[in-house]
Amino acid sequence: MLSTREPLFFPMARFILFVFTASTIFHLQQRVAKIQRMWEVQTLESAMAENATGYLSRGMWTIDAVGRLGNQMGQYATLYALAKVNGRPAFIPAQMHRMLAPIFRITLPVLHRATARRIAWQNYRLNDWMEERYRHISGKYVRFTGYPCSWTFYHHLRDEILQEFTPHNHVREEAQNFLRGLQVKGRRPGTFVGVHVRRGDYVHIMPKIWRGVVADRQYLKQALDWFRARYTSPIFVVSSNGMAWCWENIDTSRGDVVFAGNGNENSPAKDFALLMQCNHTVMTIGTFGIWAAYLAGGETIYLANYTLPDSPFLKVFKPEATFLPEWIGINADLSPLLKH
Ligand SMILES: *[C@@H]1O[C@H](CO)[C@@H](O)[C@H](O)[C@H]1NC(C)=O
Ligand SMILES: *[C@@H]1O[C@H](CO)[C@@H](O)[C@H](O)[C@H]1NC(C)=O
Ligand SMILES: *[C@@H]1O[C@H](CO)[C@@H](O)[C@H](O)[C@H]1NC(C)=O
Repeated sequence: MLSTREPLFFPMARFILFVFTASTIFHLQQRVAKIQRMWEVQTLESAMAENATGYLSRGMWTIDAVGRLGNQMGQYATLYALAKVNGRPAFIPAQMHRMLAPIFRITLPVLHRATARRIAWQNYRLNDWMEERYRHISGKYVRFTGYPCSWTFYHHLRDEILQEFTPHNHVREEAQNFLRGLQVKGRRPGTFVGVHVRRGDYVHIMPKIWRGVVADRQYLKQALDWFRARYTSPIFVVSSNGMAWCWENIDTSRGDVVFAGNGNENSPAKDFALLMQCNHTVMTIGTFGIWAAYLAGGETIYLANYTLPDSPFLKVFKPEATFLPEWIGINADLSPLLKH
C-alpha cells in the first residue's frame, strides 16, 4: 500500500522495481520451461530411437486399408491377431486410422506414408479364413492384402478385440441417449435388437456377380418374429443404407420398430454405435452387420445360404468361418434367381 505522505518519487521507483522483478521472474520461468521441454524432447527422442531400433530388428507388419468401415475393422483385427501370433509389431495405414480412430479406442500405431514408401514390402494375400500357414509367416516387412473378416483369425483374442473396438465415450453416449429415449407402447423396451439391412450396391452386385440374393421382406419378418416370440417388448432399431426400402418392407404396425440410421454411407459411426450397443442383432449380409453382431455379443440372426451352390462367391467366402457357430441362420429364398 502506498502512503499518501510519501513523495512522488518513491511510488515511481517502486513501480520500476516491480516491473523489473516481475519481468526477471517471468524470463526465468520461461527459461526453466524451455530447458524442461528440451530435456523432455531429448528423452522422448532417445526412447523413440531405442524403440525404432527395436522395431527394425523385429520388423514391421501392416495391411492394406480397403473398403469401408466393416472391411477395415476386419483388416484391423486380422492384422492384430496375425502379428501377435507371429510375434511381429503391427502398424496400421494412416487411412485406416482415419476411418477407425474417430469411433474406437484402437491402439495399433500408425505407419506414416513416407515410412511405408521406403520399405520393400512383401505382399501377402489372405483368404477370408484362418489357415495353419498364417501362423508361420517369416517375412520381416509383411503387408497383408485381401478382405479378411472372419472370427477364425481373432476369436481367441475376443477380449482384446472388444477392447480395441470400444467406442469413445462421446460416441457411446450419443447412442445411449438415443436408446434411452425409445419406447414401445409408452413403455421402456425390455430388449434392444439392432437390425442392419445392407442394400446399396449389393442389391445389384449380389444377383449379377455372385448369383445370390440380398435379404427380402420375408427374411426380416421371420427374424423379427424370432425375437418377438422370445422377449417381452423388444424394440428393433433399424439401420440401413437403403432406408426407403426398409420403410416400405418392414412392418411397423406393432409400434416396435424404429428407423434409426441416417443411411449415410459416409458417416457410418452413428449407425454402428447404435447397433453395437443393442443387446441382440439381426443382420443381412456384409461386414458392417457382422461386426455389429460380434461386438453386441448377443443373439444373432443371419441370412444363410444366400447364393446358388455354384456361386463364385463360395470360393472366397466360407459361411462357417464368417458366422459364429452359435449364431442362427435363416435360409434365403433363392427363387428370384431361378426365374430367369
Ligand atoms: C517404446 O516401447 C515401449 C514398449 O514396446 C513402450 O512402452 C514405450 O511407450 C515406447 N516409447 C515410445 C517413446 O514410443
Ligand atoms: C441392453 O442394451 C441396453 C442399451 O445398450 C443396456 O442399457 C442394457 O443394459 C442391455 N441389457 C442387457 C441385459 O445387457
Ligand atoms: C445352408 O446350406 C447348407 C448346405 O445345404 C446346410 O447344411 C445348412 O444347414 C444351411 N443353413 C441353414 C441355416 O439352413
